[in-house]
Amino acid sequence: MINNFTYYNPVKVIFGKETIALIAKNIPTDAKVMITYGGGSIFKNGVYDQVKVALTSFEVVEFGGIEPNPTYETLMKAVELGRIEKIDFILSVGGGSVLDGTKFISAAIPFSEGNEWENIVKAKRIKAAIPLGAVLTLPATGSEMNSGAVISKAETKEKFAMSSPLLFPKFSVLDPETTFSLPKKQIANGAADAFTHVMEQYMTYPIGAMIQDQFAESVLRTLISVGPKALENQTDYDTMSNLMWAATVALNGWISLGVPSDWATHQIGHELTALHGVDHARTLAVVLPHLMRYKKENKRGKLIQYAKNVWNETGTDDDLVEKAITNTINFYESLGIPTKGSVYGINLDTIKEIKTRFTERGVVYGENKDITPEAVEDILNMSI
Ligand code: NZQ
Ligand code: ZN
Repeated sequence: MINNFTYYNPVKVIFGKETIALIAKNIPTDAKVMITYGGGSIFKNGVYDQVKVALTSFEVVEFGGIEPNPTYETLMKAVELGRIEKIDFILSVGGGSVLDGTKFISAAIPFSEGNEWENIVKAKRIKAAIPLGAVLTLPATGSEMNSGAVISKAETKEKFAMSSPLLFPKFSVLDPETTFSLPKKQIANGAADAFTHVMEQYMTYPIGAMIQDQFAESVLRTLISVGPKALENQTDYDTMSNLMWAATVALNGWISLGVPSDWATHQIGHELTALHGVDHARTLAVVLPHLMRYKKENKRGKLIQYAKNVWNETGTDDDLVEKAITNTINFYESLGIPTKGSVYGINLDTIKEIKTRFTERGVVYGENKDITPEAVEDILNMSI
């Protein structure tokens, strides 16, 4: 039975070629705009120039240097600038990190009740937010059509997700041509991240949610098809547009309506990024296949369904469970993403630290709330 749900998603998606020009019509005419960006890719691929032309009639302030896995320390500099300049709107121009960082900035500028890391990121006390929009240049996170953000603190090597309905972008521009300049590693990361987002919401246990299951399976099949093609020919508009839209719908809430979801892979993955600096998507490849094997009895129904419907496999149920896991490993590896933690330097000390952190936080994850700190230790031991 599908569980009761409420679905709310107010993001205006503006998709296609030459759509950056449309941002001006979607920002209040008298707004003072802060443009946020990352390490400079937008200057090399022409995206910055397109944004500046579109915003000719606006007063604009710029903040650059938001790093992958955006840090509280960097973002607070943007918060100070935004407060001084009294900005009315923030336009994120870049990948998921710039957009997540922008969501934090948007919530932090009006916040005046104490430390922003403790209150906004950890306690998720978000009472107001400066409106924001996005020009997305990297298909991966789904942040462009959701209200979440993941923020790191360099000082303590922590990384936490936060969310609030106030943090949905007012609009997101998805022009697939902006992705033509992506490094291959980021294309692979994007496909792997989106794939794992679907898996977190699908690879649980069957409840007969036909739309959610079949939608999830079609997004997985799309990513399996376009991921390798995107690596081979990243200036093919059809390929990149399918990759971009797949990544968006993978995490705009649609697949998870009324169904159980897991998210343990992401929670463990955030620790691997925080402690080892491993790219987000790569942490997921280190965890998910081993979690699937560790939980193969609980996930048996879905593993069999996935092997048949996504990978067109046949055989006994035991064969199908095994094929579900090996096909998942092969998918990540086909993108050039290793699935062994040892490749990234993850070792027993890291595993011990993660177990300690989860124990101290008193957290358990997974659709059955049985991914305890001890289970996390077992899964990570399988991965190294
Ligand atoms: O910083 P610049 O110079 O822009 O370069 C970036 C960065 O080095 C580059 N890049 C982006 N677009 C480009 C480009 N280079 C050339 N051409 C382009 N068109 O790519 C590098 C990585 O960018 P980043 O934004 O870090 O990647 P991604 O979009 O994968 O975002 C990862 C972050 O999102 C979080 C992750 O934890 C991580 O911090 N996530 C956010 C989620 C959400 N808000 O819903 C969910 C996800 O599960 C994820 O946790
Ligand atoms: Zn992710």
